[in-house]
Amino acid sequence: MKLKFKFALALGLVLSTLTLAQAASTTDATLKKGKDLLDKSCMACHAAKFDGDPTYVYTRPDHKVHNLAQLAARVQGCSNHNNTGWFPDDEAAVTAYLNERFYKFKTN
Ligand code: HEC
Repeated sequence: MKLKFKFALALGLVLSTLTLAQAASTTDATLKKGKDLLDKSCMACHAAKFDGDPTYVYTRPDHKVHNLAQLAARVQGCSNHNNTGWFPDDEAAVTAYLNERFYKFKTN
């Protein structure tokens, strides 16, 4: 009986740790959605402006975005400016993708 209790406790701990880890990291589906949206509405112009390299704008040494709040604001601004019709969760997915792939700012 005692052993069973310990096992249940251990299992509970493992499961709650897994749930926490999942909540903290952005899901693959969100990142894929962000990438798809970015590829569709944003990439061509960035490539055209920066010698055919669509990622240079985020990785150039003098890139303009320096934290997560600035990134989110920039994504929202560019989305509005280019009339993408994105909803806030679309912008959040693009921000998450750009951060995961390029900027790597702390998310907490
Ligand atoms: C019509 C062309 C064009 C389109 C479309 C466009 N961008 Fe940009 N974007 C630019 C240019 C040019 C810059 C660099 C401006 C500068 O140096 O400040 C830029 C810069 C950025 C940056 C800042 C990079 C950095 O750290 O310096 C982000 C983030 C960004 N764009 C996101 C987007 C997103 C998201 C979209 C799609 C909704 C988008 N852009 C669509 C032209 C465009």
